[in-house]
Amino acid sequence: MPSGNPTVNSLKRDAIANLPFSIIRFAEIDSTNRLLRDAGRESPEDGLVAVADCQTAGRGRLGKKWESPRGEGLYFSLTIAPLDSTGATIVPLAAAVVLFDTLIGSFPALKNSLDIKWPNDMLLKGKKGAGIMAELENSIRGVPFVVLGIGINCNQTSFSAHLPAATSLALELGAAVDRDSLLEVFLARWHSYTPAGIGHLPLEQVVSDWKARSSFWRGQWVRFSESGIISQGLTCDIAPSGALVLQLPSGGRKRIFSGEVEWIRSG
Ligand code: BTN
Repeated sequence: MPSGNPTVNSLKRDAIANLPFSIIRFAEIDSTNRLLRDAGRESPEDGLVAVADCQTAGRGRLGKKWESPRGEGLYFSLTIAPLDSTGATIVPLAAAVVLFDTLIGSFPALKNSLDIKWPNDMLLKGKKGAGIMAELENSIRGVPFVVLGIGINCNQTSFSAHLPAATSLALELGAAVDRDSLLEVFLARWHSYTPAGIGHLPLEQVVSDWKARSSFWRGQWVRFSESGIISQGLTCDIAPSGALVLQLPSGGRKRIFSGEVEWIRSG
């Protein structure tokens, strides 16, 4: 059990009561990912979930901040252990698949507006509605583990001026959403998608499931930056490794393994 100041300890709700998760809830924390990372360094506990009503230093990918206003979004992290770097490649892609199904299953009205932008941004009508990140760590005893962090914009009605491309479920649905039940559904689906553990799921299957849910990986012009040089390419595949494959105007192909690509237009 990590140190911290949870308001309710190890709350288990009915729908997931028999699943191997322990949930700790915080009224406020700096970052649920930071908490589980620090706790895991001591002793990583597979299935430990930290969820917060508000994060004062929520973190996003590539060193960005994740705005986490009180009571509005769903902010949670899950420890997956043990898991090595090969297994860790799969986690954010699998999380995007499960989150996509969680959102469509909970809100069928999103059917035509939900999309996944590589590597794992959840878009609602082209605007970011949720983000996923996975951090690989080693415990002090050398056990590798991953902290999967997910932020879902649930009931926000506005965003900071520097986030013009953000939206929330409530803005798209026209109604407030229940964050607790979204968490339950996600965890239940995560468990059924990875019944024997994520380490046993073939990467090819996850990539294929990811592609089946995204329109982004084929026929979209994107901008990417490499060593300070900005180039463009047309998305044409997701490699078996999870890399985004681009067709370059010069005729060659390029694989993007990490970072961010900016959507320009459909090809
Ligand atoms: C992204 O940049 O798209 C990923 C955002 C991940 C945000 C979540 S909110 C819960 C968890 N705790 C954090 O500090 N970050 C993740």
